[in-house]
Amino acid sequence: MNKEVKFNNLGFGLGLRPDHFQDIVGAETGVDWFEALTENYMGIPGHGQSSLLSTLLKIRKDYPIVLHCVSSNIGGTDPLDQIFLKELKALIQLVQPAWVSDHICWTGIHGLSSHELLPLPYTQETVDIVSNNIQQIQEALGMRFMIENASSYMAFEHSEMEEWEFISEIVKKTDCGLLLDINNIYVSSQNHDFLAETYIDNIPLENVGQIHLAGHRKKENGLLIDTHDQPICSEVFELLDYAYKKIPPTSVMVEWDDNIPSFDKYKAELMKAKNVIKKGLNNET
Ligand SMILES: [Fe+2]
Repeated sequence: MNKEVKFNNLGFGLGLRPDHFQDIVGAETGVDWFEALTENYMGIPGHGQSSLLSTLLKIRKDYPIVLHCVSSNIGGTDPLDQIFLKELKALIQLVQPAWVSDHICWTGIHGLSSHELLPLPYTQETVDIVSNNIQQIQEALGMRFMIENASSYMAFEHSEMEEWEFISEIVKKTDCGLLLDINNIYVSSQNHDFLAETYIDNIPLENVGQIHLAGHRKKENGLLIDTHDQPICSEVFELLDYAYKKIPPTSVMVEWDDNIPSFDKYKAELMKAKNVIKKGLNNET
């Protein structure tokens, strides 16, 4: 594996959604880069190119792309899905992404997928399972992998450590990159009653290669749910400001997955993030 692969600062990006293809292809969008969800472009029958993949490759001619997975199941106890890895590798060869990422979670067992990002117990045993899977993925892909903190709505009684200690252990063992989802930290901090700043202060910020921002919703019982269906709240922007001052300039991205707005409204959220960072850094000098 090429350990020298660096996660360059690509600037300000958006999660690529087919709803916006016509706004992006061949257009000057003012967005620096896009993140594509790998599963939308994989498993194409007959190895031909779907129209989705053809459009992605057109966009790739004008923009850097990063690939984001939702089903590599790095927290699962099943052996890694070799067909998934083979298809992912083929997609990487076509798209030539800046990097590839997935979530710290498990998604299925006995070959069945839940299509959900399920929470993990924070134990040494789980650290070893996740680290071993990341190392295998990094070997298979021949590149550093990036892992994202997921939001959670429940905790395991037998967890032995805090989430930030769990992630730190995995990053230390694998030297993978960290995709810091600021909204997920905020959602989990409210659901599990910890200080979001403590989380940020205690993870290996030197491994952060990308930041995610998104909107969430509050249920009637007070639980925050990571819905990605509305604008980013002020608390998440404040946390972005707090985190960004502590890390080297890093690629920042907004993701939106339900009730997807117009491209202009989506981009406006990204510009808000850009202004928060600019203002925060100006106030420091
Ligand atoms: Fe995210």
